Amino acid sequence: MTIQTVATTPFAGQRPGTSGLRKKVAEFLQPGYLENFVQAIFNSVGDCAGQTLVLGGDGRYFNRTAVQVILRMAAAHGYARVLVGRGGILSTPAVSCVIRKHAAAGGIVLSASHNPGGPDGDFGIKYNVGNGGPAPEKITEAIYVATQTIAVYRISDTAAPPLDQLGISQIEQMRVEVIDSVDDYAALMSELFDFAAIKALFAGGFTMRFDGMHAVSGPYAHAILEGMLGAPAGTVINGTPLEDFGGHHPDPNPVNAAELIALMFAPDSPDFGAASDGDADRNMIVGRAMAVTPSDSLAIIAANATVAPGYRAGIAGIARSMPTSTAADRVARALGVPCFETPTGWKYFGNLMDAGMATLCGEESYGTGSNHIREKDGVWAVLFWLNLLAASGKPVDTIVREHWARFGRNYYSRHDYEAVDAHAAEDMMEHLRAQLPELAGQQFDGFSVALADDFVYTDPVDHSVATRQGVRIVMTDGSRIVFRLSGTGTEGATIRLYLEKYEADPARHDIDPQVALAELATIAAGVSQLKARTGREHPTIVT
Ligand code: G1P
Ligand code: ZN
Repeated sequence: MTIQTVATTPFAGQRPGTSGLRKKVAEFLQPGYLENFVQAIFNSVGDCAGQTLVLGGDGRYFNRTAVQVILRMAAAHGYARVLVGRGGILSTPAVSCVIRKHAAAGGIVLSASHNPGGPDGDFGIKYNVGNGGPAPEKITEAIYVATQTIAVYRISDTAAPPLDQLGISQIEQMRVEVIDSVDDYAALMSELFDFAAIKALFAGGFTMRFDGMHAVSGPYAHAILEGMLGAPAGTVINGTPLEDFGGHHPDPNPVNAAELIALMFAPDSPDFGAASDGDADRNMIVGRAMAVTPSDSLAIIAANATVAPGYRAGIAGIARSMPTSTAADRVARALGVPCFETPTGWKYFGNLMDAGMATLCGEESYGTGSNHIREKDGVWAVLFWLNLLAASGKPVDTIVREHWARFGRNYYSRHDYEAVDAHAAEDMMEHLRAQLPELAGQQFDGFSVALADDFVYTDPVDHSVATRQGVRIVMTDGSRIVFRLSGTGTEGATIRLYLEKYEADPARHDIDPQVALAELATIAAGVSQLKARTGREHPTIVT
């Protein structure tokens, strides 16, 4: 069989966003679209000859086809070995785990995360480097540049092997190893957490529902929760990955995981609920009649890290994305460890973890994780909470309330305005930026602005600088209004408005967050002129 060199021409817009290249499936179905991007990856990552690549995705529509094309292209670029998940399935955290465990040069993740799937939905592709994490910006930019000048791609004309059976086959010189999607990942989890204690918890009648949202976490949750930890069958719901996620939006937040929220707020609710997204890197933690905000979850995990065997020695530091609430900063201060504030996107945590500066990382967008891998990790977060519930013997709401009583509560909410006209959204951001020099010192309805800027991050490890990472208006009492545009949306622009207000007094910890944040929301509306500039009356989704 031979390696073909196929002439091609560039496609516009193949620039990776917050997390890889995400586009409508229809765009990916254009002849050469996937091939061009994969060729650009291989052109940008250095010499592939003799290297190992990890490959898998969340099982959404086009996953299998893409895996087969990428295998044939990897063979044409001299890779010695590709580890591919059975059926083409690997969660994003599992890709990261497998890259690290098998010392691969990198990996390709096929997913559009929480975006809907199916022929009318989204598809995505992302390159991860040898530390297991998303490629840093200098590589993603090089990939983009390569897509703009591409003239040929190389592909073997050998058919890709079947993906459904474990085993080894060959394309050209390259070994294709179809591996179990779960095994390596599950082994790592069993080292980090007290599986015996969690097993005893379930054996004692503790009840849980894990909502796989018909996405890729299902097989992992089935194997670990019901298989290794002895949770009764039925603990995992919607646990079979479907190409279109059953037509749902696989995003674990109270709006999209409404089925789980209804279960957890019913009088006969289970003790604990959790959900994960399309590619299993996000998580939502729910107690009886209480959804834990991701920002609180990060802070609570940090405050209790030593309950889990993997973190017994304590944590070196915490990192959170800028819009994430400052609840974790309070814990870091109490622990005497640093808390880093990074731009949105998991790729900014990689250097901090590699340098041993941050052990735990989190984002307000339902992402939590640690230095065990270099991606956020939904099932990891759920297992941490199970470990904490087992060690403390307390229910979720008690743990959360005690945390607030000790550290204060950071009321928090995100308002998303989806599919806004892109020019109108840019115009609103420019309007905000134009006001930044004058905002500090201004008074608004009882709040006084301490700082207003467009967030700039200098990586403390490699000193790379990321600019224009979100407009933040910080009040003297620590309350914050943050505006930024999504880098993962595929339709027009998505405006994200993040609101945060700190409350120390435990007597005031039971207010509806939207009520607690109403004044800040009004100030944000006034300063941004969002309604006038975008024509939007209300957010599309409030979490
Ligand atoms: C969103 C989240 C961000 C997360 C990313 C990938 O990006 O806000 O925290 O890292 O998805 O899961 P955004 O659309 O805001 O650019
Ligand atoms: Zn995801």
